Amino acid sequence: MLKIVNVCGARPNFMKIAPLVRAYRQYASIHSLLVHTGQHYDETMSELFFRQLSIPEPDINLGVGSGSHAAQTAEIMKRFEPVLEDHRPDWVVVVGDVNSTLACALVATKLGVKVAHVEAGLRSFDRTMPEEVNRLLTDSIADLLFVSEPSGLENLKREGIDNEKVHFVGNVMIDTLMRNRAKADESSVLVELGLRPREYVVVTLHRPSNVDSPETFRTILDAFERILEDMPIVFPMHPRTRRNIAEMGMGRRVTSLSGLHIPEPMGYLDFLKLMAECALVMTDSGGIQEETTILEVPCVTLRESTERPVTITHGTNRLARLETTAILEAYVDRRTYRPDPARKPELWDGHAAERIAAVFQQTGLRRGAVGR
Ligand code: UD1
Repeated sequence: MLKIVNVCGARPNFMKIAPLVRAYRQYASIHSLLVHTGQHYDETMSELFFRQLSIPEPDINLGVGSGSHAAQTAEIMKRFEPVLEDHRPDWVVVVGDVNSTLACALVATKLGVKVAHVEAGLRSFDRTMPEEVNRLLTDSIADLLFVSEPSGLENLKREGIDNEKVHFVGNVMIDTLMRNRAKADESSVLVELGLRPREYVVVTLHRPSNVDSPETFRTILDAFERILEDMPIVFPMHPRTRRNIAEMGMGRRVTSLSGLHIPEPMGYLDFLKLMAECALVMTDSGGIQEETTILEVPCVTLRESTERPVTITHGTNRLARLETTAILEAYVDRRTYRPDPARKPELWDGHAAERIAAVFQQTGLRRGAVGR
């Protein structure tokens, strides 16, 4: 029996872990446990996703909550260590690039438990992003690295990671998108918000580089003001963005913008429907760059760099510098952009998690052979 402890902690992890725990079930030889670190804990940031994506109740919830990077990472490590000591798994699987990813990978490595990283090799080459540091460190200690796009293979090769550990499997987030597309179509979110298909823009922003400084956020709002003359904007707001806007004293300006909807963070199905039907998306999220590529919805990423270059070369994404004119220029460009349905990133086909489970099953067989 191969025992695998799977870790999830923050919102973007849940879409990645859902197809994995499902795929393991094909193999009687795999026993999988689910640990939720509790990095995200609000109903709309966590439980709603478990229900909608039919993720089983976590076997263990570490309940860490918020904190500074050091405090949060340390707390996850402290609470995860006894879990591994109790369960002694063969593998710990971490996904993505959040603090929970790095914290649990570190704990496992130090206890001599093998680490597998799903979504390995992505690089923005910007170490001011906490996620970039999490990605680099996690990949450098992982024993198995599951890669979602060709740039990941190149990056890991350049960093000297042994090719034997690396598997190009595709994108687990797209597995979840494909599985839930039809269900999301039934969402009434457009009616509830009074929106018409292809006549609104979806915005998500939560990264420190965009929402922590009043100057930058003002630049973005100036662009939104102009875009609102053209189309309404729906901006489901991440809790850290909402809190920062209040702290920066910019709440009144935001609420005074006519045509700007700021609902609470949405569940997976409503948000998928909202993205699938919009004219274009403006975001600083990683996963949304990938989802819009598969949905064939134009995307403007409000960042200087992306760790997911395949969404530019084979998708609908483009970057925009944090200047009002650059944002508006990107908006106009994507308004008239027509995606080419024939160009899709390789292996983004809905079967990535099955490939990952098959690799684990093989490693289990090899281990069994050695043991005999
Ligand atoms: C984290 C990830 C980021 C990911 C994002 C998706 C890291 C370093 N960052 O950023 O890569 O794109 O999640 O959402 O791990 N908060 C709540 N309720 C919650 C969760 C968070 O109110 O359920 C608020 C708290 O005020 C908290 C702040 O959001 O202090 C930041 O949360 P945290 O998990 O530290 O990072 P995110 O900015 O959400």
